[in-house]
Amino acid sequence: MSYKKEELNESQTVLTEFTFVAFSYLQELQVLLFLVFLLIYLLTIMGNIVIILLIKLSPSLHTPMYFFLVNLSFLEMCYTTSVVPQMLVHLLVEHKSISIVGCAAQMYIFTILGLTECCLLATMAYDRYVAICHPLQYTLIMSSRVCVCLAAASWLTGFLVEAAQTTWIFTLPFCGPQQIHHFFCDILPVVKLACADTSMNEMALFGVSMLFIMGPFLLILVSYVRIISTILKMSSAESRHKAFSTCSAHLIVVTLFFGTALFTYLQPRSSYSPNTDKMISLMYTVVTPLLNPVIYTLRNKEVKGALKQTVARNFY
Ligand SMILES: *[C@@H]1O[C@H](CO)[C@@H](O)[C@H](O)[C@H]1NC(C)=O
Repeated sequence: MSYKKEELNESQTVLTEFTFVAFSYLQELQVLLFLVFLLIYLLTIMGNIVIILLIKLSPSLHTPMYFFLVNLSFLEMCYTTSVVPQMLVHLLVEHKSISIVGCAAQMYIFTILGLTECCLLATMAYDRYVAICHPLQYTLIMSSRVCVCLAAASWLTGFLVEAAQTTWIFTLPFCGPQQIHHFFCDILPVVKLACADTSMNEMALFGVSMLFIMGPFLLILVSYVRIISTILKMSSAESRHKAFSTCSAHLIVVTLFFGTALFTYLQPRSSYSPNTDKMISLMYTVVTPLLNPVIYTLRNKEVKGALKQTVARNFY
């Protein structure tokens, strides 16, 4: 293990890079993992590009729900790209290191996009709530101006909160150990390396997670309670089925994303285990960005119909 340190003065040294030790113990298996994750990553990028193009090309999909879905697909591509390519390289090379600046950049991008995704998913739940519980006022309430504002507010919240938090984390001194027990610069594994009392940061992290993960989560929960009670009151089985089919894809994505995020950021610190944490992180950095386009295209009649039409129009 090479220790690269810059001498500040006799008593203090400052690290300039971290090394990842997440998958080192897997040895030859790393090549197999590389291939699997590369495949998933390429499918994710392709799937999300297909969703974006399909929605842009299909006039029948120019509604608020699909406006938000374009935004979400774009976000998920960036989100998974902030983590996966670096992890892929590290599965192949011997020296799995990242500069502190690189680590900070990764944490900024990853956390900003992560929180933006929470807010965007809440916005999408609100959109479904208005569509199902107030169908007559839907076009009035969800005007294109409101949609742009809601999406912009999600991005702004993610940016402001996580930029502040990450900046704060990187004002901590890092003077060794330099090994990150993870495959990317996530908040907790990095905070654990600071050579200072980090209890304040961990409390702040918990507070921020509580407010900004639980907040959108509760909004989603309330929206779906209202949605489901409205659906159950509908008289015909056909309209029940139709209403439910427009929100089931979103519900699956929300459950996966928040299930893993809440588990990671709100579990009691005493039960923190790097190994479970790594597995769960793989879920929300590698797997859920792929599931999003899959769930939306395969479970959704409108999208499937638009796909057939677009293909028919352009290739026959
Ligand atoms: C997502 O929404 C924001 C805010 O409305 C907008 O600026 C951005 O261009 C959108 N991104 C995509 C890919 O549609």
